[in-house]
Formats: sequence, structure tokens, C-alpha cells
Amino acid sequence: MNVGARQARQGEAMPESSPESRIIRRILRVNHAGEHGAVSIYSAQIAWARRRAPDILDWLEDTIGHEQKHRELFRSAMPARSAKPCRLMSIWSVGGTVLGWVTARMGRAGVMACTAAVERTVHQHLVEQQAFLNRHDMELLGIVQTVQVDEDAHLVHAEANLKGGGWLAKAIYPAVAAATELMIFVSTRGDSLRLRAAMKAA
Ligand SMILES: [Fe+2]
Ligand SMILES: [Fe+2]
Repeated sequence: MNVGARQARQGEAMPESSPESRIIRRILRVNHAGEHGAVSIYSAQIAWARRRAPDILDWLEDTIGHEQKHRELFRSAMPARSAKPCRLMSIWSVGGTVLGWVTARMGRAGVMACTAAVERTVHQHLVEQQAFLNRHDMELLGIVQTVQVDEDAHLVHAEANLKGGGWLAKAIYPAVAAATELMIFVSTRGDSLRLRAAMKAA
């Protein structure tokens, strides 16, 4: 076990300049920004559902409540780790709103395909983060695990309601998954790929 991992296990603070601390700040930044994007997606879909699909409004409102709570959890974990929000939060606001708006106009199947694709992409990132945090930041690991319980519930609900969505849902799914990865890539200026490699190596 390296020094950073031993300090994390023993509850000691890691030096801010350590490679592990830098990775933790990058994880917090992208997760916080991603939750902000999720809030934007669901806001746009809620605006549509109020007029066109009131039957899914309760689920959308519960879900946006979770995303707001996740955003706050990651934001509140930042100061102790000297992390700051992403400077390109506007990309997440605009990108999330556009994704939510476009998919909502494709109807319920569009909404569910959007959620399923986003959550499937997020799920993979969270799994990779947990393997790293288990070695370096147990407190943040607990937060990520709490968040993932909600995200997985969103994914299960969306996939269950996607059945019978037809060709439209099948077409939306890969497009939204790619758009989500692109937003992560652009907002981190390509750091998401290096982050993945750094987490594995650390
Ligand atoms: Fe979330
Ligand atoms: Fe979610």
C-alpha cells in the first residue's frame, strides 16, 4: 500500500500536491459538473412533461431532486479537498438543456432513452472512480456509493420503461451516450481519458 492509500485508510490528510489529491479534485470537478448537467436535462424534460406527459412528471420531479442532492454532495466535498467547480459549467447547462429539450420532443421513449444512456455512461465512470477511491479517499467513496444507488435506480426505471420504445429509442441511446462522453471530454479538455488512465495507475 502506498503512502497516499495508507493516509486515506488512517484518515490522515494527503498533501494537496500529491498525484492522488489532484486526481480526487478532478473526480469531484467532473462529477459536480455532470450532476449540474443532469439537473439541466431533467429541468427541460419537466417543462415539456407538464404540458405533454403529466403521467411521468412525478418520476421526473423525484429524479431531479436526487440530481440536485448529488450536486450538493459533490460541491460540499470540495473545500476540504481544495477543489473548485469546473470553469466550463455553462457547457453542462447548455448541453444538458439541449439534450433534455430534444429528447423530450421525441416523447416518453425519448425521455427514457436519454436517461438510460446518460445513466449507463455515468455508471461506468462511477465504477472506475470507486476502485480508485477505495484506495485513496474513503469518505468520498461513501458519497459516490450513495450517489450510485440513486443513479442505478434511475437506470433501471428508464430501461424498464424503454421496452417497446422502438427504433427511435434505439437511435437515441447511442447518440445520447456519445453526447454525454463528449460533454465530459470537452469540459475536462480531454482530461477524462487521462483521468481514467491515472486512476488505474495510482
Ligand atoms: Fe446524479
Ligand atoms: Fe441520475
